[in-house]
Amino acid sequence: MRLLSAEYLTLVLLAIENASACDRPYSVWMADSVIARGQAIVPGDSAPSASTYLQVGFFQSAIIRLIDYYHTPASVCARKDWQEYLQTSTNSITPYLLNASKDATYPLDRLSTGKGLLHQYEEFHTSTASDSLHALRDSIDLQPKNSLGGYWYFKYPNWSYLDGMYSLVPFLLSYNTHFDPQNSTVSDDIIRQLDLLWTHCYHNQSGLLVHGYDSSKKASWANPVTGASPIIWDRSLGWYLMTLVDSLELSSPFPRRLSEYLQRRLTQLAKSVISAADPNTGCWWQVMDQPGKQGNYIESSGSAMFTTALFRAARLGYLPGHLASEAKKTAEQCYSHLVDVFVVKNENGTLGYNGTVSVCSLDSSATYDYYVSQPLLYDSVHGTAAFVQASLEQEILDRTRYS
Ligand SMILES: *[C@@H]1O[C@H](CO)[C@@H](O)[C@H](O)[C@H]1NC(C)=O
Ligand SMILES: *[C@@H]1O[C@H](CO)[C@@H](O)[C@H](O)[C@H]1NC(C)=O
Ligand SMILES: *[C@@H]1O[C@H](CO)[C@@H](O)[C@H](O)[C@H]1NC(C)=O
Ligand SMILES: *[C@@H]1O[C@H](CO)[C@@H](O)[C@H](O)[C@H]1NC(C)=O
Ligand SMILES: *[C@@H]1O[C@H](CO)[C@@H](O)[C@H](O)[C@H]1NC(C)=O
Ligand SMILES: *[C@@H]1O[C@H](CO)[C@@H](O)[C@H](O)[C@H]1NC(C)=O
Repeated sequence: MRLLSAEYLTLVLLAIENASACDRPYSVWMADSVIARGQAIVPGDSAPSASTYLQVGFFQSAIIRLIDYYHTPASVCARKDWQEYLQTSTNSITPYLLNASKDATYPLDRLSTGKGLLHQYEEFHTSTASDSLHALRDSIDLQPKNSLGGYWYFKYPNWSYLDGMYSLVPFLLSYNTHFDPQNSTVSDDIIRQLDLLWTHCYHNQSGLLVHGYDSSKKASWANPVTGASPIIWDRSLGWYLMTLVDSLELSSPFPRRLSEYLQRRLTQLAKSVISAADPNTGCWWQVMDQPGKQGNYIESSGSAMFTTALFRAARLGYLPGHLASEAKKTAEQCYSHLVDVFVVKNENGTLGYNGTVSVCSLDSSATYDYYVSQPLLYDSVHGTAAFVQASLEQEILDRTRYS
């Protein structure tokens, strides 16, 4: 064989090209790892716990974003079948969603499963998917509200949390667009829900939002004037910032006042979130406005959520120019810190993710000490699903930059 013939060179170049095309990006590698661990699925032998809904819904949303961008697992050498995962996880949760009155007894987080259900419905037109979607929609009308009209997050009377918005708002928008497109009154309810939280949880010194409020001001932690809880928790605000961005993406069929509201709040909040970033890492503290205080630490799920939201808001043109470049800069700095410090390469070829706080509830003392003493988890889906999305945004940015 004549070395360096044109054909030979072509073959070598093709091989190199294939090899590099087959480097799994981090988003895909982490998603494969979550699926390999059997996470974000309801275990066959037990009913979902209150927190399972959000794990399934949040990770499904991440997978759907991978499909939207990379189209097929083969295109990025994923080792897991995304459609099969979506099918399995949806089948595992639908039996628990079909009764609207029962649904209303779960946290608002249950609504995060709507995105996966809608995806299944569009692919296969199954009646279980649409029945579950309708039951979830009906359950919102059964959700108790406080005296101001704000939905309770869960069973605690009159308490509203930032967290619930991530599941509620995009669900309402998608549901309406698909099943009730003539009726746009939902936008006013959405603005009311987001704004009640904004006005009651707003923290003057930092421009950030605290975790939640009790409209009846009876909770031990409630501010006597606003009912607000005292602490700014990174993950609850992470859910809220992602809500503003993801809802803007869904807002075009609705009256302009909705997108104007979302965009105004997003600009305000993004500015404060960027200011709160730790200058050394680009990431965010568990208790956001008390950097360096005894017990406080850089938390890996909220940090990945802010990274995702800032990247995405900048990419989609939702931020004014100067703020968009700051958002990208902060997000890139935090993203590389997440990769360096929290991503763990396991010997069996999977990726792990460290440093995610288990859960913080307002059914507690809600003090600083409470927030910094909740256990840290390894491989929590709140962290890994957020990391998948943050990585995907970094990958999209890199492809735009180098193409
Ligand atoms: C791979 O190794 C990690 C770390 O030891 C472990 O947590 C995980 O369960 C293993 N298996 C899979 C499928 O991820
Ligand atoms: C639906 O759930 C409610 C509340 O848990 C229960 O009372 C009712 O019997 C359930 N309905 C059906 C048809 O199972
Ligand atoms: C919830 O708010 C309502 C209306 O303001 C009030 O009547 C009720 O006592 C509150 N419930 C609790 C447990 O604080
Ligand atoms: C529109 O949707 C709202 C719920 O968002 C509902 O209360 C109202 O009855 C609906 N209006 C019509 C005309 O269907
Ligand atoms: C925050 O600032 C606003 C406007 O400056 C003021 O009306 C409000 O009372 C302040 N709230 C607190 C809790 O200081
Ligand atoms: C996770 O982080 C903790 C605290 O920094 C550390 O002790 C532990 O070794 C880390 N786990 C892994 C698997 O890297």
